[in-house]
Amino acid sequence: MFQTYEMLAGKELSETLIVNELYGRRKTMNVPFIDLKVQNRKLKPEILPLWEEILESASFIGGSHVTSFEKEFAKACEVDHAVAVSSGTDALRFILLALDLREGDEVITVPNTFIATTEAISQAGGTIRFVDVDPGTYNIDPSKIEAVITSKTKGIIPVHLYGQAVDMDPVLAIAQKYGLWVVEDACQAHLAEYKGRKAGSIGLAGAFSFYPGKNMGACGEGGAVTTNDSGIADKIFMLRDHGQAKKYHHQMEGYNGRFDALQAAALRVKLKHLPVWNEKRRRNAHRYVDLLKDVDGIILPKVADECLSVYHLFVVQLEERDRIAEALNAKGIGTGLHYPVPLHLQNAYAHMEIPEGSFPVTESYAKRLLSLPMFPELSEEQICYVCEELRAEVINQSR
Ligand SMILES: Cc1ncc(COP(=O)(O)O)c(C=O)c1O
Repeated sequence: MFQTYEMLAGKELSETLIVNELYGRRKTMNVPFIDLKVQNRKLKPEILPLWEEILESASFIGGSHVTSFEKEFAKACEVDHAVAVSSGTDALRFILLALDLREGDEVITVPNTFIATTEAISQAGGTIRFVDVDPGTYNIDPSKIEAVITSKTKGIIPVHLYGQAVDMDPVLAIAQKYGLWVVEDACQAHLAEYKGRKAGSIGLAGAFSFYPGKNMGACGEGGAVTTNDSGIADKIFMLRDHGQAKKYHHQMEGYNGRFDALQAAALRVKLKHLPVWNEKRRRNAHRYVDLLKDVDGIILPKVADECLSVYHLFVVQLEERDRIAEALNAKGIGTGLHYPVPLHLQNAYAHMEIPEGSFPVTESYAKRLLSLPMFPELSEEQICYVCEELRAEVINQSR
């Protein structure tokens, strides 16, 4: 079994840095799948004074850092409102609850996403309807949506997967034709753009995750809803806080989905760096493309002309994916699988009785996709090493 990101991410450089020139072997270097420590070290001088101030005030939940972060994040995403909540999953669930999803209402999304997208649908009382993804962009295939629309369909959740925005115009046109809402799962797409518009600002509402490994991650859990609809924003302010607009006056049953001051302060610092980090991710992606484009046997991610990707992940397609991943991991290169089991084939959805073969593009991805190391601080040397080793493994396979 090859090592996963989680197994490699915790290793220190010295553990995997093996130079064995004596035997003429190639140098092995450590390239973690993601390196949060490097970023944290740089940001400490900016974050710690704010955290000290919060510790002194002992005001941990909500407060001025949360409201300021909400304003700043709304501005960055070019929407009127952002509501910070405790996770991306809650952001999605609260949006669907605010839209009054009822039992039996159907919501369309993709089987190649993290389970949070579909958990939100079921937990808000809805029924999941899957549509396969486009073979090029990894995102929902708009040409397959109309076939699954029924009289019970209420909305569509396009997922801007791996940092690239969905082709939204055809999705919006279908939604308009059938009177459906569109909620964007932008959990992997902070500041990604579609035709110059920010992810999370195009549909009725957008959901973001600040899980630590995301392009802008908290030092813990966090998420946000973005919307131009003040009614939705107001409802989510209440849903995240036990249904209360005023202390102990509950308009409805809600949840404990609040956001805390320590995370808000850290994210206010990080938001200022996010455009540069995204630019560095794009630079890294372009280096991968330059170095791998002529290798037969590697299919590189396709970026649509109208999209500005923020490369949350850099995902390639390979034959013999598992063998190659194992070989890369043995050489100190962290990799990820996004996602190894399509949602319709997960045990959690066995009750849906969707047979294998129903979503062939997603199913083929599950066997072929490999996520390469991707984070802003990835060095030229590390990228070259990953590409050299990947190229060697792929050539080895085709012999
Ligand atoms: C596409 C997608 N949707 C939803 C989520 C859920 O976000 P969180 O982990 O913050 O609940 C994630 C996070 O992994 C995600 O990648």
